[in-house]
Amino acid sequence: MLEERLGRKEVEAGSKLRRLRRTDAIRDMLSENRLHVSSLVAPVFVRDGEHVEEPVASMPGISRYSVDKLSDHVGRLTDVGIRSVLLFGIPDSKDDAGTGAYSADGPVPRAIRELKSQYPTLVVAADVCLCEYTSHGHCGVLEGGTVSNARTLPFLAKAATQYADAGADIVCPSAMMDGQVLAIRKALDESGHEEELLMGYSAKYASSFYGPFRDAARSAPSFGDRKGYQMSPANSREAMREIDSDIKEGADIVMVKPALPYLDVISKARSRHDVPIAAYSVSGEYSMIKASSAKGWLDERGAAMEVATSIKRAGADIIITYFAEQLAVWLREEQ
Ligand code: PBG
Repeated sequence: MLEERLGRKEVEAGSKLRRLRRTDAIRDMLSENRLHVSSLVAPVFVRDGEHVEEPVASMPGISRYSVDKLSDHVGRLTDVGIRSVLLFGIPDSKDDAGTGAYSADGPVPRAIRELKSQYPTLVVAADVCLCEYTSHGHCGVLEGGTVSNARTLPFLAKAATQYADAGADIVCPSAMMDGQVLAIRKALDESGHEEELLMGYSAKYASSFYGPFRDAARSAPSFGDRKGYQMSPANSREAMREIDSDIKEGADIVMVKPALPYLDVISKARSRHDVPIAAYSVSGEYSMIKASSAKGWLDERGAAMEVATSIKRAGADIIITYFAEQLAVWLREEQ
């Protein structure tokens, strides 16, 4: 034992970890992980219509914007140093097959064209899923009361190609259909989009933390739940299989979602893979900090910075978060 070899006094002197924490400058010098604005991605809700900026009740500080209002909002993000956004479309009308997801005049392709012309260097990512566009709110096309994997893939491929055509830098399939990455990669290659980045929502859990998003996107399933395609919160080995297969199918970046309840999954993925890993700190993670800090129960800035730092520490390269703008401001103030 160390104590026997060195004697009690030396052990105590040698193990004074508090020496490492004595001053702010020392703590800063020894920081193992640093948040930087360049790893933050801001989710943005874009809706049909004109002159609308509509706050989301369950997500204070977050609004849905019509395309004409989007530039100002994104301008505020770029002013504080945010260089990438992830777009979600909210159409006025929905149908059984979610055809709005691949309409060239849908909110997302229009938003991509607008943002790319206003901010050519902005990284524009687009979520690829049918749930915001289907009348039943499921992430794919129904057949016999359940979501048909095979019938959904071509629609996802069409939507991704449409967004790439509009100029998106990254397409992000989030429907959790088997083979969606391969189907999209093939469609992109066939339509001349070999350079398109693909970020797979690889390990996407069937989570209660999506609640506020479904309010924002009006995309709650009208019957049943998403447990038949999204992952069980109990499983992490299965998440590795999802990630493995997305990489094999041609994903450039893989994602774990939500982030905070699944830090172990991020960390496990980090130790197994060398691909870039994104973590999506979802709507419920945002709203729970917002709600409790509004009541004075949590310090908002401290809690949000701590959560983002923990996601980084777990091994994520990219953090998709509704706190992006605020984090960017706070990070500037710390400099
Ligand atoms: C599906 C999608 C969802 C989220 C992102 N993409 C909702 C769902 O699966 O129900 C949730 C994001 C969040 O909660 O912030 N298109």
